Amino acid sequence: MLVTSRSYAEYEAMFDLKELPDSILDCCAGGASFTAEAAERGVDAIAADPAYELETPELVDSVRRSLPATSGIVDEHQGSFVWHWYGSPERKDQYRIEAADRFLQDVMAAPERYVAAGLPELPFGDRRFELVLCSHLLFTWSDKYDREWHEAALRELIRVSNSEVRIFPLVQQGAGDPIPWLPDLLASLEGVTTEIRKVPYEFQLGANEMLVITRS
Ligand SMILES: C[S@@+](CC[C@H](N)C(=O)[O-])C[C@H]1O[C@@H](n2cnc3c(N)ncnc32)[C@H](O)[C@@H]1O
Repeated sequence: MLVTSRSYAEYEAMFDLKELPDSILDCCAGGASFTAEAAERGVDAIAADPAYELETPELVDSVRRSLPATSGIVDEHQGSFVWHWYGSPERKDQYRIEAADRFLQDVMAAPERYVAAGLPELPFGDRRFELVLCSHLLFTWSDKYDREWHEAALRELIRVSNSEVRIFPLVQQGAGDPIPWLPDLLASLEGVTTEIRKVPYEFQLGANEMLVITRS
């Protein structure tokens, strides 16, 4: 799986973020710069990803390699992507390069913000974070992780959130196929309300919705 590096601007749009709460978990954060930039804005921000177990040179290599690899996926499925949010492939690459640089600087400067951990088991207490974000793992990699794994992962994200979990996107990587078992899975969750909400971001054609899970 690619250790991609989306920027703060991409997160802001994918999750339709307006005001940031006091504490946020980004799980699976990969090489994204969201945690670094949220921390700069005064948020208690933590990133979790199994890739943080890698030694620094391997982590740098994985993050750097994700850019051409992502472009390869986009080239393979050209008709499945739209460019109105980014403007151009060059602008997208610029976001990702800047975000990777920002992430790599922050991992060195504040390693305590980057926790090596993987779903469906996170090393955080119940209700530890006001907001939990998950970009491009659940649902998008449902060819790799099955429905059972998704259910366990969702329950774990809910457990560590005090208020909300937001997940984007809700389609599979590549061609953007829908997830047939998503409605059933959401119906099986107790003690929460779920909403599929439109966001001001689209790259995979039709992938312009996030899942918002609110704890009651
Ligand atoms: C496509 S990247 C997304 C990174 C970042 N959120 C972004 O939007 O650019 C997917 C990430 O999921 C991480 N990952 C893979 N399995 C995981 C698991 N079981 N729990 C948490 N993260 C996982 C990978 O290491 C990788 O960094």
